[in-house]
Amino acid sequence: MDLEAFVALLGPRGREALAEAVASLQEGVGAVTAARRLRRSYDAPLTAAALTQAELRARAVAKFGADAAVMYFTPDGLEQATRAEVAAHRARRFRPGTRVADACCGIGGDLIALARAGCVVDAVDRDPLTVEVARANAAALGLRGVSVRVGEAAEVDPGAYDALFADPARRSSGRRTFDPMAYSPPWPAVLGLAARSPAACLKVAPGIPYEALPAGAEAEWVSHKGEVKEAAVWTGALATGDAGADREGPFARRATLLPSGETLTADPALGPPAVGPVARYLYEPDGAAIRAHLVAEVAAQVGGHLLDPHIAYITGDEPAVTPWAHRYEVLETLAFSLKRLRAALRARGVGSVTLKKRGSALDLERLRKDLRLSGDKSCVVLLTRIGERPYAFICAPA
Ligand SMILES: C[S@@+](CC[C@H](N)C(=O)[O-])C[C@H]1O[C@@H](n2cnc3c(N)ncnc32)[C@H](O)[C@@H]1O
Repeated sequence: MDLEAFVALLGPRGREALAEAVASLQEGVGAVTAARRLRRSYDAPLTAAALTQAELRARAVAKFGADAAVMYFTPDGLEQATRAEVAAHRARRFRPGTRVADACCGIGGDLIALARAGCVVDAVDRDPLTVEVARANAAALGLRGVSVRVGEAAEVDPGAYDALFADPARRSSGRRTFDPMAYSPPWPAVLGLAARSPAACLKVAPGIPYEALPAGAEAEWVSHKGEVKEAAVWTGALATGDAGADREGPFARRATLLPSGETLTADPALGPPAVGPVARYLYEPDGAAIRAHLVAEVAAQVGGHLLDPHIAYITGDEPAVTPWAHRYEVLETLAFSLKRLRAALRARGVGSVTLKKRGSALDLERLRKDLRLSGDKSCVVLLTRIGERPYAFICAPA
């Protein structure tokens, strides 16, 4: 979809075409039939733009809920946009009335949440189509105090605002990049903007290397419904004092669970977690706690220890309940070999197995095929290593 086709979509004919495209897709007719119907009234570019937009809206419900029905997207913009619940969680830290510069706003996932939190947002993005989409979203959602323009992040003057928000693009040649130097704008440029701002929130990939995090900041890893989605680096007045900076370096760490909003910070009194043999239960910590290096804090909550000092499986005898870890009851421990695991699962009549791994190079899909299971029972198998030796723990179904 190009800028011209998108602008046409915003006009009265375009809105009509889009409404018809949405109705056709909701009816369940295929894209070809929907296109044929639309072509009776609209030209080919408008038909294509309306159908693309209708499909994107349907896909966007997972991230934006009911708002998706009135919003506009580009395929990349939707892919890169922050999920509404995560954006709203972050926006809650900004006081109403805060003047925020959003240095690379995309289709506006974060700026929507910031505006709804009462911030006044000046946003830029280098891509003209994306800017038009963000503007259309601000208008469609009736947001006030939002301006969006085409521009380079480097041209933003962070000193003119109370806070900076930046969510650099993490794709190069259409693929996700984990290297902060390959972000756009590059991570050093983003840090440069943050250093000139009284306060900043920088969205980053959860796998950002610790060495890339600035001293004095707070890093928060967020998981949504059990999946780690992203991290945010908070600086200046937006970093909170209750996230402890301790054994892991000069910045503070926090893990947050959404939708509950539960949050975990480092306990400076805790040393590294103890290591010991497998006990009755195995605990798999939430990914946000693992990324935030808060496994010792989770182990303390469940009264457990690690199986291996470098692997985030916790074990303990108490059936503790915590939102920070899944608990599995261990039925059997095996020094791993395919033959041994297959025999043990067959002896238990297991036909359906959930395979999980940590610190293991095994290909789980391949392993599942190689197990050739057929019974009517189910179980969970956790695969890991202790030192150099591979182990399999057969656990009761979760
Ligand atoms: C990850 S997306 C932002 C998503 C947004 N926070 C949201 O929730 O919708 C990153 C955006 O940065 C823009 N961008 C990349 N490099 C830029 C630069 N140097 N200056 C301004 N914008 C840039 C891209 O066009 C892209 O739209």
